[in-house]
Amino acid sequence: MQIIVHLGPRSYPIILQNNALGSFPARLGKLFPESKIALVANTTLARLYGPLLALWKKELRFDFLAIPDGEKYKTVDTWNLVVDFLLRKGLDRKSVVVAFGGGVVGDIVGFAASAFLRGIACVQIPTTLLAMVDSSVGGKTGVNHPLGKNLIGAFHQPSLVWMDSAFLKTLPRREFVAGYAELFKYAFVGGRSMFDFVNTHHDRMMAGDHTALLEGIRRSVAIKAAVVASDEKEVSGKRALLNFGHTFAHAIERALGFKGVLHGEAVLFGMRCACDLGMRAGTVPDASRKVYAALLEKVPRAPIGALPDAHVLYGAMFTDKKISGGKLHFVLPAKPGESVVVNDVAEKQVLETLRAVMNLK
Ligand code: NAD
Ligand code: GLY
Repeated sequence: MQIIVHLGPRSYPIILQNNALGSFPARLGKLFPESKIALVANTTLARLYGPLLALWKKELRFDFLAIPDGEKYKTVDTWNLVVDFLLRKGLDRKSVVVAFGGGVVGDIVGFAASAFLRGIACVQIPTTLLAMVDSSVGGKTGVNHPLGKNLIGAFHQPSLVWMDSAFLKTLPRREFVAGYAELFKYAFVGGRSMFDFVNTHHDRMMAGDHTALLEGIRRSVAIKAAVVASDEKEVSGKRALLNFGHTFAHAIERALGFKGVLHGEAVLFGMRCACDLGMRAGTVPDASRKVYAALLEKVPRAPIGALPDAHVLYGAMFTDKKISGGKLHFVLPAKPGESVVVNDVAEKQVLETLRAVMNLK
């Protein structure tokens, strides 16, 4: 199945399939028949998918680099390692670099492609659920800085996103649940049909039912593609809606020093906080309160480290890079499937939410 991200001359296809791993070389070869190719994965994926990559290499003859695995390596140093590799292997402006992995590999390699010779083609092969439904689509690339996450980067749309749900078979359960948070998120911003789909098929997707999961991924990708097409660089406010639950999530991650919590796990809490705050701030219509309550029951709960008092966590929200004009922006639920950005939520209500949802002092 194919979904197009419509961005004029920078439009690109997202291929979504199940168990057709052998078909990648033909697809890439058709798109880039004459190009020199480099493929970058991390050491974990190089080990897990060594035989598959060896098969692909026979057909595509790419240069291969494995970078270290982990968010702590999402740095300028690792970015430099990739750029250095591309230079040494003699890639040119017509070349293509393939990012094979989760959001970390995708973000680093996408950023390397954006800067190498002022920008070469990049193909994303997302192998985590998070990367499939979110990070591989939309062209946000970058690395972390000691002062914060994703502070250095560029918008650089891929030329192709090629995903196969077979990769999820080897994904650890904890990573699956964290990625599922980003799929669940689309229930709040992707329209009534996605809201109902998640409500109805949540249990099946969590149990790994392949048909339900594939449909959940397809719907998520279609929603993200449409949002990116309408607000590529996050200026009109439409793309900002994809940050549902993220103002809270980022504060939780920072309060925990990014240790012992995955981004998606923080988003699970963030979504519950956003719903609670939406009820307090009055963005959720009275008639919809019950449906939200039922959906919230389904949000998976992840174990989380000890958090500071509510007012400290509130303070942590003001260091988010998405903050502007000194004001917090919350994406809050409105009618089922829709959310709104609210800039003037009272501190008292945010503290009440943090105390109620997170059990904080
Ligand atoms: P990740 O890339 O660190 O992958 C998680 C773990 O799973 C890693 O250890 C990885 O080696 C392993 N893994 C990957 N695929 C596997 C597979 N098929 N089988 C077994 N193990 C596998 O984490 P992630 O959750 O994919 O991505 C998180 C990153 O994405 C963060 O850096 C975040 O900032 C970024 N992100 C970017 C965007 C964007 O729009 N660019 C959006 C959301 C998140
Ligand atoms: N992950 C949010 C975005 O791509 O805008």
